[in-house]
Amino acid sequence: MTVAPNAPLLFFDSGVGGLSILAPARAMLPNAPIIYAADSAGFPYGTKSEAEIAARVPALLGRLVERYRPRLAVIACNTASTIALPVVRAALDIPVVGTVPAIKPAALASRTRVFGVLGTDATVRQPYVDRLAAEHGADCIMLRHGSAALVQLAEAKLRGEPLNPQIARDALAGLLDQPGGDRMDTVALACTHFPLVEAELAAASPRPLTFVHGGDGIARRIAYLTQGQAWPAAPAPGIAIFTRVDAGVERLSGALRSYGLDRIEAL
Ligand code: DGL
Repeated sequence: MTVAPNAPLLFFDSGVGGLSILAPARAMLPNAPIIYAADSAGFPYGTKSEAEIAARVPALLGRLVERYRPRLAVIACNTASTIALPVVRAALDIPVVGTVPAIKPAALASRTRVFGVLGTDATVRQPYVDRLAAEHGADCIMLRHGSAALVQLAEAKLRGEPLNPQIARDALAGLLDQPGGDRMDTVALACTHFPLVEAELAAASPRPLTFVHGGDGIARRIAYLTQGQAWPAAPAPGIAIFTRVDAGVERLSGALRSYGLDRIEAL
């Protein structure tokens, strides 16, 4: 099937986290029209139940695909991907790229064979995380910790608010204070919000740690799945869609513009 040059790429997250996935994708495909959708009315996902996420995400993506006719959708959220990806794929007739916790790159990078997985509470308890660890890090100790406060820190950073450094310290302590944590050398940022506060995590760390995440791999996957397709001749302004537009969303407009998202709309 021929894809129209102006058919967008759709990125979906609960909030601003998906911007860490959008950035490398835009660098690779600079003329791609972008729809960035954030479920601000459902935010945060990480403290919700599997049932709530499994009901909410496929329904929203269905509406977004109907309205914006993207050529491809990216679930730029580990929580939504680890819970709802198969259902979304079954429901949509376009390629859907998910965000898998970066356990494979963490296991590859770890020299001490102890790595951490920092995600949301909902992500770190998924059996999918255990399957990835068994497949890619069977010889490693994997420590896991969920932090809802770090998700809020990333949102606050992009709203331009002052940041409390204790939040990043606490999130890392959740891993470092576990048995084996003294040998941990690598941390998989298994929530798309967390690469947005990587500098704060690095500054809060008592010793140098390697942080890995899946953004570059997802960009390569998008490029592969869209190869041979036509794109506009020049970059087009992107659109940020929110399921609820409030004052907090308005304060994100500067950050959104720096990711090429010039317009905010309500779904
Ligand atoms: N950015 C999301 C993730 O990758 C979820 C953050 C949240 O809404 O709790 O898991």
